Amino acid sequence: MIERKVVLITGGAGYIGSHTTLVLLRAGYKVLVLDNLSNSSYLSLKRVSKMTGTAPSFVHGDVRDRRLLDNLFRLNKVDSVIHFAGLKAVGESVNDPLSYYSNNTAGTVTLCQAMAAAGVCSLIFSSSATVYGNGATVPINEEQMADYPTNPYGRSKRMIEQILFDLARSNDKWSIGVLRYFNPVGAHESGLIGEDPLGVPNNLLPYLAQVALGKMPELPIFGDDYETHDGTGVRDYIHVMDLAEGHLSALTALETRSGVNIWNLGTGKGYSVLEVVQAFEAANGCNVPYRIVGRRPGDIAVCYADPSKAARELGWHAKLDLTTMMRDTWRWQTLNPNGYRD
Ligand code: NAD
Ligand code: WQD
Repeated sequence: MIERKVVLITGGAGYIGSHTTLVLLRAGYKVLVLDNLSNSSYLSLKRVSKMTGTAPSFVHGDVRDRRLLDNLFRLNKVDSVIHFAGLKAVGESVNDPLSYYSNNTAGTVTLCQAMAAAGVCSLIFSSSATVYGNGATVPINEEQMADYPTNPYGRSKRMIEQILFDLARSNDKWSIGVLRYFNPVGAHESGLIGEDPLGVPNNLLPYLAQVALGKMPELPIFGDDYETHDGTGVRDYIHVMDLAEGHLSALTALETRSGVNIWNLGTGKGYSVLEVVQAFEAANGCNVPYRIVGRRPGDIAVCYADPSKAARELGWHAKLDLTTMMRDTWRWQTLNPNGYRD
């Protein structure tokens, strides 16, 4: 009998983590999820179990808890780790930077220490296009580093990347994939799992979907005076299922690669806020009232990926188009108007 590979997914109950757990289970991996549920619900994993007919093992705990990690690695023969766990709200990181350096940066250090002690040296880390900072030239390739990121969240991610480089330089046993996501959106086509932000959403798609649902009166569009074709900000939106598939490809690639490997996960296409609103309305036959308001501090005009390195080295590219992203967002939102909460 072929032994199934075991992957520890930290933050696996969250938005991207739950979709990746689904993809890995379907690909035949054994999955162990570690999550403190600070920004997610166990229901996401229950639904993943139902969808796949296989349950991931679940440990309710914190990635900063070294004793828990040591026990976890002692009791389970883990082959690789995919590390999603962390905080991600840019505005919150400005008001509470220490939580970001603790959960994200220190959390990753503790995880790597426990991995090193257990002899587990294959790691995929969730980074972000935010590490490129302001002033990068589009399409952004992996070599570009403009200013330092403008907020503690982004800095926590860039610091982690630097720590991972130092770690890989110190010992050539490490195989590390740093995945820089652009703007993940959408949900699994079943509408059973999706993004479930607590409180008022920060990001465009969850906000827009809540306006369409009538939970919010109108979408604020942050500025129409950028140097873009219609004045609103341009981003590279990527379907969360394409992103999840990217993790599977990276996991396979790391079997034959060492050191730190950085891959952009984006589509390479940029859409403006107004184009997204129009695409959502056209795909779902609904009306999204909006109002142009002032720019949001820290926003940049244009950001989209050069995804050719991932295509070349991983054989991966995003397949799902903007219309599919809009349809799947709406299906999830209408089937689960209160997210995972009843
Ligand atoms: P999410 O909040 O849905 O998932 C993160 C998960 O980690 C949650 O389930 C949360 O409960 C858990 N968690 C947080 N701190 C923890 C800790 N200390 N110990 C254990 N579990 C903890 O977010 P997501 O959108 O799925 O993002 C996943 C990763 O991808 C994050 O690292 C995020 O920074 C990164 N990322 C996200 C985006 C995006 O727009 N969603 C873009 C780029 C990068
Ligand atoms: C997209 C566009 C806004 C909300 C953020 C993080 C980044 C990464 C992804 C984690 C922009 C506009 C938004 C609204 C609007 N996360 N907008 N009205 O800012 O590109 O990236 O999420 O790593 O680090 O910074 O994403 O979805 O917030 O904004 O007009 O109510 O929509 O100005 O042009 P962003 P977003």
